[in-house]
Amino acid sequence: MDSFVLIILGITSNLAKLKLIPALYDLEAAHLLPEDMTIIGVARSPKSKNEIEEYIKNALQQKNRHHNHPIDEDISTRLAKRVHYVNGDLDDPSFYIRLKENLDDMARNNNSCSNRMFYLATFPSLYKTIFENLKEAKLSTNCGWVRLMIEKPIGTNKESAQALNQLLARYFEEDQIYRLDHYLGKETMQNILAFRFANGLFEHMMNSEYIDHIQVTAAEDFGVGERGGYYDTVGALKDVGQNHLLQMLTFATMDKPESWSNEAITLRRTELLQSIKPDPLSIIFGQYQGYREETNTTNDSETDTFFSFKASIENERFSGVPIYFRGGKELAQTVTEVSIIFKPSPDRISNGLGGAMDPNVLIYRIQPNEGIVLRLLTKKQQHELEIEHTYMQFCYKDYSLNAPDPYERLIMDAFKGDQTFFVDAPEVEAQWEITDKLSLSKTPPTVYTKGTWGPQTADETINADGRQWLEPSLLFCKL
Ligand code: BG6
Repeated sequence: MDSFVLIILGITSNLAKLKLIPALYDLEAAHLLPEDMTIIGVARSPKSKNEIEEYIKNALQQKNRHHNHPIDEDISTRLAKRVHYVNGDLDDPSFYIRLKENLDDMARNNNSCSNRMFYLATFPSLYKTIFENLKEAKLSTNCGWVRLMIEKPIGTNKESAQALNQLLARYFEEDQIYRLDHYLGKETMQNILAFRFANGLFEHMMNSEYIDHIQVTAAEDFGVGERGGYYDTVGALKDVGQNHLLQMLTFATMDKPESWSNEAITLRRTELLQSIKPDPLSIIFGQYQGYREETNTTNDSETDTFFSFKASIENERFSGVPIYFRGGKELAQTVTEVSIIFKPSPDRISNGLGGAMDPNVLIYRIQPNEGIVLRLLTKKQQHELEIEHTYMQFCYKDYSLNAPDPYERLIMDAFKGDQTFFVDAPEVEAQWEITDKLSLSKTPPTVYTKGTWGPQTADETINADGRQWLEPSLLFCKL
């Protein structure tokens, strides 16, 4: 891999602390960073070289859900030594001129023409200013490659996303732009594609003839924590619904790509997204009790921390199959999964059989108890013929789950120039088109008690169709 300079705009952000710096540590530990690769951190207040190194080491000591392994002092020192710091205001044009001088000086000292990766770990509201200033300061091109990694959300609706995409297209080539949704980098998500298209065993059943309905759940049993300032401006539907949940459905239902290439996979994802039709009348918004008292949220906030809705996929394959989505914070469980609930087989003998009669379900469990699981009916081990449900399972824990963290993987992909698991402009706009239709029906959220599955109305919507939310099971793939 070519060497490069990574410029992190917003190195003191929560995102940088919790995701980016830990991912870089893991890449350092695995010796995957080029020896002379340099990192430039950017934030507002001045910091010396020593202070930024200390900051990096302290950030690595903070344990979080996804990064909780021990930190080796030598590795963290090695990473910290790579980091330099330039302070500046991201909406001040003179900062970009200074940044360019710094980068050019570094290149001159190393006698090399450096590649540059700008990682936007800032508030999304700054994106427009950043794109314009990078262009203005002549930072959008260089003798080496220049790439941008941009965190979701891009825009706040389809119109603003289109405006940002057009701005990007004016200043950059599409192959310089890496729009990041970390769910696309999850091992458990990418494996859905391998499971479906490397085997093909279940593919002939992935259609309305066999499927009764699909459920997509992304639930967290914790609240907004320190991210109230950001979260209060977006809410659950835009924070995770517009991106992670839609992509979960996409991976589970998109048509077979022509090949395992970036263009082929992205095309199929986009086609699927463009065929999703949400039902605006089905949307339920909720807010957990106590949300308004969280740090940096407003005391009359109407931000949603829960949503559920129904949709369909308007293509030949899935026409008539209802899809139910739900996601949010402070819910009963932390669990992320796609469940495909099959229709009862016309061949099944139910006469004279006692016990469970539940439908077969294929579960793509993204986390926790990661796996791909088929819920089946089998005979109870006893004299009488009685049925119970059980799981046929592929569990990551049986193969020791030490897959790279999604950030680690996506950062590496971007360094290598592979855009397969990044979102392109039509894709992000198709996602907004879906959530825009739902946002039109925005009503004040219903307050729900922490530790429940959100407002009761979310249950009523699915129950009215004669179905119910599956209780996500923690009985399979147990550690
Ligand atoms: C982020 C959202 O994109 O995804 C967070 O901003 C959410 O609110 C997180 O908690 C969930 O990611 P993961 O990988 O923990 O499921």
